[in-house]
Amino acid sequence: MHGPGTHGDFKTYADALEKKSLLRFLTCGSVDDGKSTLIGRLLYDTKLLYEDQLAALERDSRKHGTAGDDIDFALLVDGLEAEREQGITIDVAYRYFATEKRKFIVADTPGHEQYTRNMATGASNSELAVILVDARKGVLDQTRRHAYIASLLGIRHVVLAVNKIDLVDFSQEAFDEIVGDFLDFAGPLAFSSIVPIPISARYGDNVIANSANTRWYTGAPLLEVLETVDVESALADGPFRLPVQWVNRPDLDFRGFSGTIAGGAVAVGDTVAAALSGRTSTVTRIVTMDGDLDRAAAGAAVTLTLADEVDVSRGDVLCAANARPEVSDQFAAHLIWMSEEQLYPGRQYILKIATNTVTAQVTALKHKVDIGSLEHLAAKTLHLNEIGYVNISLAAPIAFDRYRDNRDTGGFILIDRFTNATVGAGTIDFGLRRATNVHWQALDVDKHARAGLKLQKPAVLWFTGLSGSGKSTIANLVERTLHAQGRHTYILDGDNVRHGLNRDLGFTDEDRVENIRRVAEAAKLFVDAGLIVLVSFISPFRSERRMARELMGTGEFIEVFVNTPIELCMERDPKGLYQKAKAGAIKNFTGIDSPYEEPEAADIIVRTAEGDPAAHAEAIVRYLRERGYCT
Ligand code: ADX
Repeated sequence: MHGPGTHGDFKTYADALEKKSLLRFLTCGSVDDGKSTLIGRLLYDTKLLYEDQLAALERDSRKHGTAGDDIDFALLVDGLEAEREQGITIDVAYRYFATEKRKFIVADTPGHEQYTRNMATGASNSELAVILVDARKGVLDQTRRHAYIASLLGIRHVVLAVNKIDLVDFSQEAFDEIVGDFLDFAGPLAFSSIVPIPISARYGDNVIANSANTRWYTGAPLLEVLETVDVESALADGPFRLPVQWVNRPDLDFRGFSGTIAGGAVAVGDTVAAALSGRTSTVTRIVTMDGDLDRAAAGAAVTLTLADEVDVSRGDVLCAANARPEVSDQFAAHLIWMSEEQLYPGRQYILKIATNTVTAQVTALKHKVDIGSLEHLAAKTLHLNEIGYVNISLAAPIAFDRYRDNRDTGGFILIDRFTNATVGAGTIDFGLRRATNVHWQALDVDKHARAGLKLQKPAVLWFTGLSGSGKSTIANLVERTLHAQGRHTYILDGDNVRHGLNRDLGFTDEDRVENIRRVAEAAKLFVDAGLIVLVSFISPFRSERRMARELMGTGEFIEVFVNTPIELCMERDPKGLYQKAKAGAIKNFTGIDSPYEEPEAADIIVRTAEGDPAAHAEAIVRYLRERGYCT
């Protein structure tokens, strides 16, 4: 039999590696600031390259390099062909290396403006940021943006690498000026440490050893800073958090809650609580891939079993009973916008936080941040790469921590419901409790009672289509028929509602989103009153029409697509608006310079190019009768 000692050499080595602390850092800088060259230089000078890699590097440097006869270190890192051709780095790349003192994971993030998303991805699990500036260019907007995002995402330590110092003749004045600029800006960001270093990634000055070219620089070289910066994570000291990934129930005898511990530690016998229900129990077992443990800490993937039947589902957080996360359906947060499509306050997005997923709306955009000055600016929306401070409201309460207390349970992303693209990343500042003391008042006379008296089933007929498509004409005819039959109805018409309730709204995309949100809420109240409501709004966005549908009960939302070709709408031009829009006198006109997203699965489609309005209205009334909305 072989004991564990058989693989002694390897094991000793692996153990030694295990015991070393780990530093996760990211490099950020503008295109051409030399990030890739710097990482390549680090790997090369720490002798972490194999012979064959070296040979390939020398060969490639001659072929593709931009460094003359010298080795082009960027080639080591810029692995992708496409990157080489464009000369930019296009994705987040993680690289692993180790020295005798420490293990490192470095996230190399692109410098191009539109790749803020990648920077945020890289930053969200890094402890230190190496921010590169070109000694000839100094602190740029991009530099400030990177510093701000790094601070938002909880990075406490910064190395300001003033690169290409050789190109300014190793000038101390140039260095001091850049450092001064950076400190002026970064002061309020409250980093725990900012270490400025003059370097030349290309020639290796102050990368792993102090350079004779900068005798005036008395600080440590980059590698030493990386090896010694104290980032021992406070996470393991914080309160216990286990966001539940799934409920593991292979048979009736076993019920465990699985996930990765996101904070603190847990031991058998500990009292834990399920954050959402508030119920408590005692930990009976900590099951892992390698058998049961008595204790486990942040970072470990575990399955906990509890002494009592506690209702816990995916997305809930098992936590220390005496130090629980907040539970709320509203919070204030910083939000980094990452989509080409702007933010629409009022639109529903999917919010993912730890293992939980919930529908969310930005209910208020308090301000956006001018990255250059950190000033707060009034704003109605956020565009790509902009950062704002928002209130977010959720369809259901979630358990969370403030981001500054726990990055895993306090950070979230927003996802578009149609494209599934990540459109924003945020950090929770604090929970809002305002609405939690507003309860739903139960009333004795309800929707059914009201509708019953009227002998009808309440619903919304939601007419959508271009301006001039015939929505109002047909809605009007439908209401006339229903009314004549003794049905109780109401029409909400875009033009009319915009005279009152929505008179503060214009025709920008964000105003239209809010326009529809309000009218959907109003329609819901009329449905609750037991009425058949006819809504006639262009309602150009799928997302808001879906929101309206989901606001109503099953069978209460009937989408009527008034499908009229725009040429015909223009020909009719009942209000002369197309004429004006084409002449440029009206901006953001639907179908001209503002989009209309056609319904994909309308309940009723009306083609006004064929047949007459009375026949279309008749068909709609028949639809209602056949489905029992009215007799
Ligand atoms: S929506 O897009 O927000 O749903 P809504 O139905 O309320 O629009 O209002 C559309 C009506 O406003 C049109 O029928 C038209 O009479 C008028 N209108 C004025 N300016 C515009 C515009 N830029 N785009 C579309 N409709 C406009």
